[in-house]
Amino acid sequence: MPMPRIRRALTHVGGNIETGGDREASALLAAALDVPSHEGKLEGTDDPSRLHVHGFHAYPARMHPITASRLVQKLVPPGGRVLDPFCGSGTVLVEARLLGREAAGTDLNPLAVKLARRKITPLGAGDAERILEAAKNVRARADERRLARAGATRRLSDQDVAMFPPHVLLELDSLRSGIEAVSDATVKDALYLVLSSLFVKVSLKKSDTSEDAAPRRIAAGYTSKLFFRKTEELVARLGDYGERLPRGRLLRAHIAIDDATKLTTVEGASIDAIITSPPYAATYDYLAHHAVRLRWLGLDARSLEQGELGARRRYAKMRPEAAEQAWIGELVTFLRAAGRVLKARAPLVMLIADSAVGAHALRADDLVARAAEHTKLVPLARATQRRPHFHGPTARAFSERPRGEHALMLQKA
Ligand SMILES: C[S@@+](CC[C@H](N)C(=O)[O-])C[C@H]1O[C@@H](n2cnc3c(N)ncnc32)[C@H](O)[C@@H]1O
Repeated sequence: MPMPRIRRALTHVGGNIETGGDREASALLAAALDVPSHEGKLEGTDDPSRLHVHGFHAYPARMHPITASRLVQKLVPPGGRVLDPFCGSGTVLVEARLLGREAAGTDLNPLAVKLARRKITPLGAGDAERILEAAKNVRARADERRLARAGATRRLSDQDVAMFPPHVLLELDSLRSGIEAVSDATVKDALYLVLSSLFVKVSLKKSDTSEDAAPRRIAAGYTSKLFFRKTEELVARLGDYGERLPRGRLLRAHIAIDDATKLTTVEGASIDAIITSPPYAATYDYLAHHAVRLRWLGLDARSLEQGELGARRRYAKMRPEAAEQAWIGELVTFLRAAGRVLKARAPLVMLIADSAVGAHALRADDLVARAAEHTKLVPLARATQRRPHFHGPTARAFSERPRGEHALMLQKA
């Protein structure tokens, strides 16, 4: 069955939203999409309660927490279990816990899994003090090494030399070797994530998603000072998040490195709803994007290298027809795995945008509907919001029909 095409235009704050399919379900999707800003610009929201753990670490194409929260609230019964198989930085899982739902997440990016686990886990007794004390020691050691003009603790790669000013690189190296020496696993993981959150601020790159250089003057000692400040910020954010969790026993949560096309760590027919935003075909390259962090944190990215869906590094080389077929094939494998873990009649909501290969548009709503024909999932409703497309070489793909961001609901038959 094709993705429902009955069109109803609704006027919403964030731009017109067009809906189709089941009236009630599409209204729910439209309401979830209707938030003040998107793509991780959480600072643009006027609700400070959204800032806590979400704002701690950059992650490409984060779901808007308000969208995640509204979908969880409407689609997962209290105490029920929601799965985000492409959990990234854990937005859906954080919101699920805040709403008293059981959170399950998978991702092939080991950095995402560490970040999401840290974000959904409130601080235990004494954690804040232990994390801050260790950060103070790590910073002091880095400052001592800087003043003593100590060399690097290991051979630094050419990529790192190109990415950071020399004095910053030495401070980062000292911070890392200090973190390595920490024995408490909770503290160590937290400090590695703080280090990971610093890289763009002290690198020669303009932003996390840009390859352009941004020559900056970074004072000696700034990197280790920032490291300590960011640790204080993490502890404060986690404290704030902990305060907001429902009182009483915290429901179980499960986050694992797993392939969304296999979901081997998720039991069959155990999920009340899947709420997720998969990669957009041919748009991002999570492996390249996180290369520096994966390298510095010593994380094994081989599974991500092999299994990353929609990765630009593969799609950019394909002809449009081949790209379309490849994307449908990848969606089929994901939807089949999703169908296995969902309970009967349970919903799957995907947030996914159109993308392009050369001048050819890959319309996410149509391609998901075509993929669903080969699975036990049936398209039920959709809501679509227009999204500007700035990428010069592929802009032609959207010259006739604009690029859309879709919330698509499918249901297990
Ligand atoms: C759009 S991002 C999800 C962002 C997330 N919703 C958030 O708010 O942070 C897509 C994620 O899919 C992950 N991914 C790509 N291929 C995967 C696969 N085969 N299995 C599991 N995760 C995968 C990427 O590592 C990335 O974290």
